[in-house]
Amino acid sequence: MKRKKRKLFYGLMDKYRGEGVVPECAHFGECGGCMFQDISYENQLLLKKEYVNGLFQDIASVDEVFPSYPFNYRTRMDLVTAFGKKGFRRSGSYRHVVDVESCPLMQTQSNEKFMELRNLLEGVEDYDYLKHSGYLRYIIIREARFTGEVMVNFVTSVPENRLSIKLYDFIESVDSSSMLLSDGLADLSYGAQFQTIKKGFINETFDSIVYKITPNTFFQSNSEVALKMYRRILSETGGNTLDLYCGIGSISLYVASAASNVTGVEMVEESVNAAIENRDINEIENVNFVCADAASYVKENSTSFDTLIIDPPRSGMDPKMIQHIKEMKLDKIIYMSCNPATCRDNLRELEDYRIESFEAYDMFPQTPHVETLAVLRKK
Ligand SMILES: C[S@@+](CC[C@H](N)C(=O)[O-])C[C@H]1O[C@@H](n2cnc3c(N)ncnc32)[C@H](O)[C@@H]1O
Repeated sequence: MKRKKRKLFYGLMDKYRGEGVVPECAHFGECGGCMFQDISYENQLLLKKEYVNGLFQDIASVDEVFPSYPFNYRTRMDLVTAFGKKGFRRSGSYRHVVDVESCPLMQTQSNEKFMELRNLLEGVEDYDYLKHSGYLRYIIIREARFTGEVMVNFVTSVPENRLSIKLYDFIESVDSSSMLLSDGLADLSYGAQFQTIKKGFINETFDSIVYKITPNTFFQSNSEVALKMYRRILSETGGNTLDLYCGIGSISLYVASAASNVTGVEMVEESVNAAIENRDINEIENVNFVCADAASYVKENSTSFDTLIIDPPRSGMDPKMIQHIKEMKLDKIIYMSCNPATCRDNLRELEDYRIESFEAYDMFPQTPHVETLAVLRKK
């Protein structure tokens, strides 16, 4: 967090903390995962509303932050295995890991699987990411909210499966499991899939749409909230539609019924392949996917679109991208964002558009993060 933003946040935390809220997790304060467990959920929503309205004060405001289940919502957890511990980084420290038995943000099955794995992986060499030596770097647990399917992946420093025998029965109890290689110095919790132990994907469903999720592809962290946002995006979609930063095609496919055509653009090849497969699984005919950098695609394609949907990474869109969008002369832009600060900067830069509607959703309860959705119209 930048200094000014951090100051604003800590001020709000003091204002809304109140008294008598007992954190759900024994590791609260030590673990870097949550910051808000000592603030009642009602106050977390008020805090986030004040934060968003403070950031956007001169351009937009929200009446409320739409809530989520406060706990057991996460569809993915990346558990570090280092220094004899399995868990999350210590608050404010990359060098230390907090050993956790369970996490109240994880869904029930994910917690059960993690507890089993803690015992089963006893004695397996973990990875010292400070000295760059060892074997097992991460355990990744993904759980689809609406289908209940569970995927467990192991990120290792060498392309060897030293776990099979220990996990023989465990693998039977999950829907998918893969081995991923991360052999560089960078601390990555993804990598080339060098072995599919079981199936290699899980399915999630959002209303009538089925999504196949593979180990290295992005899927929203909170399915309930994501689905609410997708329904809202669907209600605003029409005509020839461009979905930039489309991941595995989650939004493109969800809104296809309201559009004449949808083009989804994504730069990760594995995601584009999954998007194409998802389109075929759902037998949707008016959507196509392109593997490209979003800015390059927009620069090189002069096709006219009626609706633009954007859901960029936390860094938002850079000035070149904003310039390309301005040149497209779109009627409507739907901007979903996981970082209100970069979203605010981008909305300011798109000065040819007025903000027709602006909403905030609590995609990440117990943490400082909040998701926003803006609908913009050409002035
Ligand atoms: C926040 S996710 C959104 C995914 C999707 N809209 C969804 O709802 O699941 C952002 C996506 O943008 C992709 N991405 C990041 N930078 C990109 C770029 N320059 N061009 C195209 N895609 C990019 C990432 O791989 C990721 O899949």
